[in-house]
Amino acid sequence: MGLIANQYHVAIAIDGPAASGKSTIARMLAKKLGLVMVNSGEMYRAVTWKILEAGIDPRDVSTIVKALGDMHLDCGINGCFSTIAIDGRLLRDELRSENVNRAVSVVSAIAAVRSRLVSLQREYLQTTSLVMEGRDIGSVVFPKTPYKIYVDASADVRAARRLAEGVTDSVVSRDQADSSRETAPLIVADGAVVLDNSHHTVDSAVEAALVILRGQGLRWSE
Ligand code: CDP
Ligand code: CDP
Repeated sequence: MGLIANQYHVAIAIDGPAASGKSTIARMLAKKLGLVMVNSGEMYRAVTWKILEAGIDPRDVSTIVKALGDMHLDCGINGCFSTIAIDGRLLRDELRSENVNRAVSVVSAIAAVRSRLVSLQREYLQTTSLVMEGRDIGSVVFPKTPYKIYVDASADVRAARRLAEGVTDSVVSRDQADSSRETAPLIVADGAVVLDNSHHTVDSAVEAALVILRGQGLRWSE
C-alpha cells in the first residue's frame, strides 16, 4: 500500500491518553501506508531522561530551561521510525524507565521544552509524509492537517495493557497532568475523530483507523 501521489507531504495526527494504543496504531498505519512513524512522546521522554541524568530536579524550571539550551537534540529517521539522540547518545530502552515515566509529564508541561520540540516535530514534514503520535499533534503541531484521530480507551483497559507489558506506569496520574496543563493540554483537536480502542483487537483498531482516514479524504493504493 502507499499514499496516492500528493504534491505535498502529508501528516496524520494520532493523539490520545497513555496506553490507549496510539503507538501501536501509528506504527501499523505507517507500515501499511508507507509513511514514517514519528513518536513525539519519545522526544519528551528523551529530554526528561537527560534532565534526570544530569541530576536536575524535574520541577526546577529555570535550571531545565538553561540545560535545554545546551542540549544537542538530533531527531532522525531509521527505516520508517523516528530516532532521537541527545549529545550524541542514541536513546532507546532508557526512555521507558520508571523514573522517566514518573517525571515526564512535569518536564513536558514546561513551555520552553514544548516549543523546542514542536519545532523539531514540524521539521520532519519537510523530509517525508508521516504519521505522528502524541498529545497535541492535531491541536498544536499540525492543526491544519485534515487527518486526525483521537485514540481513547477506558482507564481500566489502559492500566491493564501497560501491566501486561510488564511496565510500572501510573497512566491515570500522567493523563491528569497532561490534560490539565496550561500549554498544549491533551484535548480532542478540532476535526479529530475519536476511535474508542477499549474493545478492539489491534487489527480491528487499525481497520477502524483506516476507515476514519478514508472518511477524512485520505486515499491510498492497496
Ligand atoms: O506511550 P505513552 O502514551 O505512555 O506516553 P508517550 O506518548 O511516550 O508520552 C510520554 C509523555 O510525554 C506524556 O505523558 C506527556 O506528558 C508527554 N507528551 C506530550 O506532552 N506531548 C506529546 N505530543 C507527546 C508526549
Ligand atoms: O502509544 P500508547 O501509549 O497510546 O499505547 P501503546 O504503546 O500502543 O500500547 C498499547 C498496548 O495495548 C500495546 O501493548 C498493544 O499491543 C495493546 N493493545 C492495543 O494497543 N490495541 C488493542 N486493541 C489491544 C491491545
